[in-house]
Amino acid sequence: MKKGREKMFLGTSKNGHLYWDGCDMVKLAEKYGTPLYVYSENLILKECQALKEQFLDKYPHTRVAYASKAFNTIAMLQLINQENLSLDVVSGGELYTAIAADFPAEKIEFNGNNKSVAELEMAIDYGVGRIIVDSLQEVDLIQSICRKLHKKAQIMFRITPEVNVKTHAFISTGQKDSKFGIPLVPEILYPQIEKVFASEELEFYGFHFHVGSQLSDNSAHIAACKVALNLMLEVKKRYDYQIKELNYGGGFGVCYTKKDVRKPYHYFLDPVMALTKEFCQKNNLVVPEIVIEPGRSIVAEAGITLHTIGAIKELPGLRKYVSIDGGMTDNIRPGLYEAEYTGIVANKVDEKLSQKVTISGKACESTDLLVKDLSLPEVVAGDIFATFTTGAYGYSMASNYNKLPLPAVVFVKDGHEQVVVKRQTYAQMIQNEVKR
Ligand code: LLP
Repeated sequence: MKKGREKMFLGTSKNGHLYWDGCDMVKLAEKYGTPLYVYSENLILKECQALKEQFLDKYPHTRVAYASKAFNTIAMLQLINQENLSLDVVSGGELYTAIAADFPAEKIEFNGNNKSVAELEMAIDYGVGRIIVDSLQEVDLIQSICRKLHKKAQIMFRITPEVNVKTHAFISTGQKDSKFGIPLVPEILYPQIEKVFASEELEFYGFHFHVGSQLSDNSAHIAACKVALNLMLEVKKRYDYQIKELNYGGGFGVCYTKKDVRKPYHYFLDPVMALTKEFCQKNNLVVPEIVIEPGRSIVAEAGITLHTIGAIKELPGLRKYVSIDGGMTDNIRPGLYEAEYTGIVANKVDEKLSQKVTISGKACESTDLLVKDLSLPEVVAGDIFATFTTGAYGYSMASNYNKLPLPAVVFVKDGHEQVVVKRQTYAQMIQNEVKR
């Protein structure tokens, strides 16, 4: 590969082609068509390994629950189970997929700020390990469902830690003015906890927070951790009850472009683990089990998306639009959060970068621009464009806008490939539609 080339992240090249986990991406695009999501299994496993080394093995009595909203498919959940991690789901659909993947019920945590009765019934019936209460209606609801189904439930409370987070406002969740979490108002929070204490069906496990996403600074985690620890102490004082668990959420940032600096897990986790231990020792508390909920950091960098280049429109002195056969329908993040990406021409990896272009999507929407001002070699229709770091919140936020079918997903590992989601067909897209 030529020097000075846009950083290819974790891929390699051979004969001018991009290789991802040993597979030729140009051949893959030819074989399965585009748009195509491709995941390196080895890169996902590498993240799981990093979490083991920097958290699970380093600190006893800890768990990692993969936040499956980042990428929730049967194959991915099987991989997570194989790696012995727990799972966070936030809807009946994510839970349904987990059940289809035979994910062990006791390792599933159910989050969500507006769980429906049907979703809670499904979760309680399956016997999920934790229900993370996120609204004032929920405790009563869970209790009545437990009674009806003769089941028990383990309860955590998601709190709003009231911390400010250095990330895009659209993905901040820990601030006071947030739809997420139970407010830290004693008259609101404690009656809920007391209801759990009073219930035969419910067991109180502890507190949960999630401050925000795509963070490269640990200050929000540290601030929120202090809030949760003080709450644990307050519960001990008020009720002489030692909580069993604290969940510090996810949010660990990844590298989308050269501008991003990815911090290792220990950068976020060492300070909060030290704080937790210190606080417990000082206040004579038992160190609870600490759970984290990373989503993005496990899958983002393992995933790339392949598109075929089509129409090219040059506005001299202004801009050159290079259109691809997908865009906001398979990656809404640029349109929604002004997220930046980078990419390369997968069949011209070694060619000289000779122009600046804007990669535009095919949806009827002006914001459907995938990458702005990207250096590329000369391109023609039929070339394959690969966008890096699309493994999280790409497939999971994909839509059928303009009635574009959802792309296929392929896992690659050591030169072998496996389709884990087939491309949606036109017929599947309209299968629930009824002629009048
Ligand atoms: N736990 C809870 C309760 C969450 O709400 C989230 C993300 C996570 C864990 C995982 O956070 P992560 O480690 O992936 O940052 N669609 C947005 C991200 C929304 C995240 C919402 N909650 C994006 O594409 O940037």
